[in-house]
Amino acid sequence: MIKICKTISSVRNQVMEWKRQGLTVGLVPTMGFLHEGHQSLIIRAAAENDRVVVSDFVNPTQFAPNEDFASYPRDLKHDATLCEAAGAHLIFHPEVEEMYDQDRTTAVHMTQLNNELCGKSRPIHFDGVCTVVSKLFNIVQPHRGYFGEKDAQQLMIIRRMVRDLNFPIEVVGCPIIREEDGLAKSSRNTYLSAEERVAARVLHRALTYGEELVRNGERRVPVITNSIRTILEEEPLASIDYVELVDANSLQKMDCITGAALCAIAVIIGKTRLIDNFFIAPEELQ
Ligand code: PAF
Repeated sequence: MIKICKTISSVRNQVMEWKRQGLTVGLVPTMGFLHEGHQSLIIRAAAENDRVVVSDFVNPTQFAPNEDFASYPRDLKHDATLCEAAGAHLIFHPEVEEMYDQDRTTAVHMTQLNNELCGKSRPIHFDGVCTVVSKLFNIVQPHRGYFGEKDAQQLMIIRRMVRDLNFPIEVVGCPIIREEDGLAKSSRNTYLSAEERVAARVLHRALTYGEELVRNGERRVPVITNSIRTILEEEPLASIDYVELVDANSLQKMDCITGAALCAIAVIIGKTRLIDNFFIAPEELQ
């Protein structure tokens, strides 16, 4: 049976013991309700490290009061089975009180990258993510941390935080895992009704069209984003939060693709906010 630690001291003691034995440790931070996307991170972490810790913690500080913290799906038993099958050794599953003292006064605040894309409609989100990820990095002290490319902005922000705050940790980004019809795997997909689930295919359809335009030589950002918008707008159950094609390093807007770029969208289907993206590498532009 996979080991489940609920306290900071117990996970620390176990990791210290592994490190005394000269073993390397990978950390996969998650909010639980694991799916094949998380599974792929754990498998990668198990291939690259001797021991794998999965944190399973729905982090309250990254949810605004009007968001889905209380209803976010939770299923530790299912998570434990998936973690064990994927090759993890330990699940860190603390209560909120274990992670956050009532009288805490310190948090991580980003001054750039967090106000763009998802940050516009979720203004406190990335400070909450950075705070909890830096706590997890300090608690587990892994050699490597694994994050999905579906949350592209989160991945960029964590890379920047690790650089700015000198965490001695390698951040590994892992590709998006999709359902057969192209919908990016997400714990929030479970919120979708059968009709909404069909409607949600529009995200991948729209992005694939946009990506095709770029592959065929289109470089004008408004042409690409407007084409994506048009496809999304054809779906009656979809309402667009944003469609952006930005510089992949600064997340700043641009008129024309000249280097590494990120095309990211957020779309609300029914009441469920879904995100997806594609990257354009500079070598693909030649
Ligand atoms: O991507 C997530 O699931 C969360 O934002 C993370 C990184 C586990 C922090 O709570």
